[in-house]
This record gives sequence, C-alpha cells and structure tokens, in this order.
Amino acid sequence: MSRFLIISNRLPVQLNITEDNIDVSPSVGGLATGMQSVSKSFNSLWIGWSGVDRRELSDQQNKKVSQLLKEEECADVNLTDEEVELYYEGFSNKTIWPLFHYFNQFVHYEEEQWEAYKKVNQKFADVISENMKDVDKIWIHDYHLLLLPQMIKERFPDVTIGFFLHIPFPSYELFRILPWRMEIIKGMLGADLLGFHTFDYERHFMSSVRRLLGYDININEINLPKRIVKVDNFPMGIDYDKFHESALESQKRSVRDKSEVRKELERYYLLYPETKFILSIDRLDYTKGLINRLEAFEYFLQEYPEYRDKVTLVMLAVPSRIGVDQYQQMKSEVDEIVGRINGEFSSINRTPIWYFFRAMPFENLVDLYNYCEIALITPIRDGMNLVAKEFIASKTDGRGVLILSEMAGASKEMSEALIINPNDKAQIAANIKKAIEMPLEEQIERNTILQKRLKRYNVEKWATDFLNGMEEVRQNEQNYK
Ligand code: G6P
Repeated sequence: MSRFLIISNRLPVQLNITEDNIDVSPSVGGLATGMQSVSKSFNSLWIGWSGVDRRELSDQQNKKVSQLLKEEECADVNLTDEEVELYYEGFSNKTIWPLFHYFNQFVHYEEEQWEAYKKVNQKFADVISENMKDVDKIWIHDYHLLLLPQMIKERFPDVTIGFFLHIPFPSYELFRILPWRMEIIKGMLGADLLGFHTFDYERHFMSSVRRLLGYDININEINLPKRIVKVDNFPMGIDYDKFHESALESQKRSVRDKSEVRKELERYYLLYPETKFILSIDRLDYTKGLINRLEAFEYFLQEYPEYRDKVTLVMLAVPSRIGVDQYQQMKSEVDEIVGRINGEFSSINRTPIWYFFRAMPFENLVDLYNYCEIALITPIRDGMNLVAKEFIASKTDGRGVLILSEMAGASKEMSEALIINPNDKAQIAANIKKAIEMPLEEQIERNTILQKRLKRYNVEKWATDFLNGMEEVRQNEQNYK
C-alpha cells in the first residue's frame, strides 16, 4: 500500500517532558488540527521538529519519545540549540518571515544563518530518506523548508512532491532583495504542485519565476526544461464543525461547568449590560498589527467619548518566538500602550482593555469567540488569518461583527466582514462604531453567508483539494512518461 509523508517544521504534537514523565499533547495550530483528520484517513507519516533536543535525554527517555511519536504516526528531525538559533530563529524568522511579510527593515542577511538553513533542510531530507519505503507522495509545508522540494526531487525523482506556503509570497520587488533568491526559487520548483493561500501570492511567485529564470508560463503551469510544475491557490479553511459545536456545547453548560472566562464575561455583562466586548486574538507578532490596533482603539475612545463606558477590548496576545529581538521589543511596546490607554480611560469600575499575554486552552478560546460581539483583526500582513474564520464559526446565533484587515489573505474570502486598512486609524475607529451600531438582522445576514462558505470550504476540503491536485499531477506525469 502506498504511503504519503507530511513534512513541516513543527510536528502536530508537542512533547511534555518532566523528570519522571513524558507525554504528548496536540499542537493547537491550524495546520496541525486541519491535517489530523486527513492524515488519519491515509497511511501517512508526519516528519518535523519536536522542539526537544534528543541529545539531552537519557536512553530511556529517548526510547519513550520514539515510541510515543510512533504511536502518533510522527518521526522527528533533531535540531541542536545552535541550529534552532540559526535556522529557526535566524534565517526562517529573521530573514524569510519579515521579508515575505513586507517588513524589509527587519530583515537580516547573515551568511551563517543561510548556511544553517541549507544544512537543516538537508537534515530533513535525510530523515525523509530513511522513511521512504512505499512512499509515492510527499507534502511539504511552509517557509522553513523552501529548499527541501528540490533536495527531495534530486534524491527521489519519481516521487510526487507538493509544497504549500502558509505565509504570503511577496511581490518580485521585495523577493529580489534576497541575496539567495535564486537558490530559494529553484528549491521551491523542486515540487510538482505548489500551493498558495491566494491568487495574488501565486501571481507574485509566477512573476519571480519568470523574471529570475525566464521559464515559459502557461496560465498556472511552469514549463521547466524537463518537467512541468503546477501552481494554484488553495485558501486554507478551519475545522468549522469543531468550533461551531464546541460553542453550542459551551452555551448549554450549567453555571457550575462553565469556564472561568465565560463566567467572568457573563458576570461583567450582568453588571454592565450595555457593554460590547471587542475581541483581539493573535500570536504576539509585529505582522499582526497590535500596535496600530491599540492606537485605533485609543483614537476611537477619543473621537467617540459617548462609547467610552460601553466597550471593553479583550486582548489576548499569545507569546511567540521570544528568542527573536523584534518580538521582545514589541512586547514592551504593547505593554506600554496598553498601560497608557488604561491609565487614561479607566474609571474606578471599568478598564477599557483586558490584556492577557499567554496561551489559552481551546475551550476558553471558543468562549471568547462565542461571547464577544465584535472581533478586531488588523494585521499589517497575514498569509491567511484563521482567527477571523474561527470567530465567525463560533457565532452560534449568527450575531457578531468581524472587522478585518484587507492585508489578511482571509479578507479575499470574507468580503461580508467590515474590511479596513490597518494603517487607517480613523477608518478602524469608524468601523468599530459601525460594528457597535449594526442592526441585528444585518449581522445575521452577513454571518449566514460567511458561515455557509466557511463550512463548505473547511480545512478537510482544503487538504483533500490539495491532495487531489497532487494525485492529478502524478497521473499526468505517469501518462507523459
Ligand atoms: C505561522 C507559520 C507556521 C507556524 C506558526 C507558529 O502560522 O505559518 O508555520 O508554525 O506561525 O509559529 P512558530 O514559530 O511557533 O512555529
């Protein structure tokens, strides 16, 4: 029976190691949850970094880790601390991430990091090689592994390789800045099928291929000297039913069984029934536009004083990549602005921003999505943004207003949301007002359309479409031979 491999920087499970115990828990990211349903229904193996350096574990611990990963149909690529610093925090998150998100001013150009990036991509190729028995397809994910498709193609020319980029692909004018642009684009072209979230990212990629390599392009096919590479857009969805049903269940729970978050929101609402909760959830990342969001909220409080005692911004910032300077700096900036706004606009009973710098369990997230009337999602650049989709999926009675940045890939599929430019404070503030005042029927009307779309194009559909695309490419290649 043929098998297929899924490759990503992080595994879909997290190892929790204490002195006397080791267990695994699922990673919460969209990719992990989304692929789980798909990977379970195929004979597949997931290869990635476990987040743990195996060399620091005892033999017994290593045995246990291998066994646990095997049970989860995973295999790990071991990264040393130095590799984590140079490949993950370094080239992946100090070069590719800022450049592809148009944060040119943050991009590092370090030869040493580039060397480590190449080396770690080779390391992935080695672990893949050890696991190639009966494999006919490999699906590689994201910007950490841009060189891997070509490395695998060279070693296993008959295997069908798919690559999906979860972040934007920038315009050629940005991409060309990269000293290693040629290696990167050739690395990606090792794939037989390349997928992007939106048509624009696909178009940018095609234009870089044309300008750098001069290959002939026929709509969405690139004619390489010896083979054809197919390129398409596959907007990633969410596990819609999981969010919707969890939200329904949460509403039904008796007071005793409700989460602390929900109890607190309900208690507050009883005290101040005119309150509108505005929700903001992201990893703490400069691409997510937290600073401009806070400034727009501050502007809203200044411009529309009649609403000062009627809104609460619930802001959840999930710690992320704390080894990278920019992330640390941003944390201080966010702390400062939250302090400034709360200092200025709080009264004895009310604080305009409830700020949490931590991760929250799934149940609490769903409660926040379900309970808060408005979501304010203002990334400066975002490949997709699944939070926007999760918020809408959790709106069980169809009420709620999504304010969404036009710079998020998700805005392309969610035009019924209030779409804003994240750099336009006045526009965001006016849309907060509009959201607060939006009649119920209009909210339901907009959300019904959105929900229908998100339910249909859920993550399973996304993964199946991509896999079908790979199968099609494979059939074509075989007919061609
Ligand atoms: C983005 C990337 C993912 C990544 C996630 C979390 O969504 O596209 O590949 O896993 O961020 O970032 P981290 O650095 O914690 O893996």
